[in-house]
Amino acid sequence: MQPPINGFIDIHSHLLPVQDGPKDMNQAIQALKLAEESNITDMILTPHYYSGDKDYDQKFIFNTFESLKAEIQKNGLKIRVYLGNECIVDDKLVEDLQAGKAFTLNNTKYVLCEYPLYQVPCNFQSNIYDLMDKGYRPVIAHAERNAFIDKNYGSIHELAENGCLIQRNVGSYLNKYGPLARKYAKMMLKHKKVSLFATDAHSIKKRSPEIYLRLYKKLKLRISKECMIELFDKNTKIFI
Ligand SMILES: [Fe+2]
Repeated sequence: MQPPINGFIDIHSHLLPVQDGPKDMNQAIQALKLAEESNITDMILTPHYYSGDKDYDQKFIFNTFESLKAEIQKNGLKIRVYLGNECIVDDKLVEDLQAGKAFTLNNTKYVLCEYPLYQVPCNFQSNIYDLMDKGYRPVIAHAERNAFIDKNYGSIHELAENGCLIQRNVGSYLNKYGPLARKYAKMMLKHKKVSLFATDAHSIKKRSPEIYLRLYKKLKLRISKECMIELFDKNTKIFI
């Protein structure tokens, strides 16, 4: 059965052919074609950013993004793409965002914030509040996969209460990252501590974009229509 929502907005993906994304433009187009076939109409491309990365070349990222848009049109795809970054949260992030070195999500106030998966940074909360003080709105990337959640599940509650959006990877619910991520993914959903889902797609093979539709179909049978609309429609439209 066709989903009732008129297409999905995926706010976290690595389908720009740079870094650990697709190897070339052709692979990127194949992955975007699959995303489109899976009912994704809009996708924010979020290459990694961290302030100490000497190899990060913003001009190159931007030029590749423009080339990809031209290829999308040439190949007759309808999917709309936007640019952002998945930013490692450190002491320099605010400064880099203000200087335009790091991208917010589609030029909005929302910043996709990444934490180390296996350790809890000592100042992670103060950095988040610093971002908010400067007018940014943090979106915590794949919170269910982070070490801080295992050490302190309550921190998710605190972050959400204080205005952060909590993004969960589709793959966690589909058991792509092991039992711990699945456990927290389920807990967060049960406790209504998820703002939205994203694919974090890297290619057709690695976290393929079609899993978004798969999750949607699965959850449709389990949670209320109101929740589905919030998670898959309302909370994703604010980025576009
Ligand atoms: Fe990512």
